[in-house]
Amino acid sequence: MGRAKITIVGAGNVGATCAHWCAAGELGDVVLVDIPATEDMPKGKALDLMQASPIMGFDANIVGTTNYADSANSDVVVITAGIPRKPGMSRDDLLATNAKIVSAVTEQIKATSPNAVIIVVSNPLDAMVQRALQVSGFPASRVIGQAGVLDTARYRTFLAMELGVSVEDISALLMGGHGDTMVPMPSCTSVGGIPITRLLSESRLNEIVQRTRDGGAEIVKLLKTGSAYYAPAAAVAQMVEAIVRDKKRLIPCAAYCDQEYGVGGYYVGVPVILGTGGVQKIVEIELNAQEKADFQKSVDAVKSLVATMNQLMSAA
Ligand code: NAI
Ligand code: 2OP
Repeated sequence: MGRAKITIVGAGNVGATCAHWCAAGELGDVVLVDIPATEDMPKGKALDLMQASPIMGFDANIVGTTNYADSANSDVVVITAGIPRKPGMSRDDLLATNAKIVSAVTEQIKATSPNAVIIVVSNPLDAMVQRALQVSGFPASRVIGQAGVLDTARYRTFLAMELGVSVEDISALLMGGHGDTMVPMPSCTSVGGIPITRLLSESRLNEIVQRTRDGGAEIVKLLKTGSAYYAPAAAVAQMVEAIVRDKKRLIPCAAYCDQEYGVGGYYVGVPVILGTGGVQKIVEIELNAQEKADFQKSVDAVKSLVATMNQLMSAA
């Protein structure tokens, strides 16, 4: 089998950094797509990245373009196109602008890469991935969103910092939407096999969970000109790897849940098995009463965001 073809739409901070991780990890050949108004910017970034390959020792062809024909028949398409948050903005403030952008991008993907798995990154994530599903008409298993890998990575980082242990020894799960209602799961968090509740007090754990919820805003406040991109891009690369290498990773993704968890047809962060073809299985676990209540709150927030988006799109 030849190399996988990975298209990344939006050659900005997240898109270009994702191209970097994917190329350096030899996950496949990469096509970086942006809008014609960006002139030759994606070409410049692609060429620059290619020229890093002899130094870093990776084989990947990287093409920058404003023409979707170059991305035809991709195996995976990552959508990072859109505007990011500025200080004081919530992810939801991005709704109207990014819904139009994600719609236009998805139309192009549908026409040029009809068999691809789409990974949506643009915010507000849970609504944008629903939009990509609506416009593409792809099976829901091939349209997923990146949020949980990043949110879980932030949580794992803060826990490792707190405990003075390797991040590699922290195993954790967060569910729910990519927003202020994300649901941490202390019952699914362990350090070297030891349940987190045996190592940290409930109050300290709650503080770390809150910092995780605010993790994106913390970076926006520090950067001042945009939002996080190194960790988000690494999170996407992990999902791309799971798909192109059929790794069957059990990781949290924004997946379309109908009967699952009683969600009723919305995208929300849940543990999935990710491999060839996208979501191979949504893993349903029994939630305790608190987790159930928090998860429902998160689902309700996603529902109201999608309702607003649907109104905006039908008025447009
Ligand atoms: P950025 O501004 O650096 O890059 C966005 C790129 O999209 C720009 O190069 C722009 O020209 C391009 N673009 C705009 N409209 C387009 C179109 N119609 N077709 C193709 N390209 C188009 O922004 P950044 O930091 O890369 O963030 C991108 C998006 O990802 C934002 O919406 C941000 O909120 C979101 N994000 C989501 C995360 C998640 O965990 N789901 C994490 C980090 C960012
Ligand atoms: C983040 O969580 C902005 O969603 C982006 O950093």
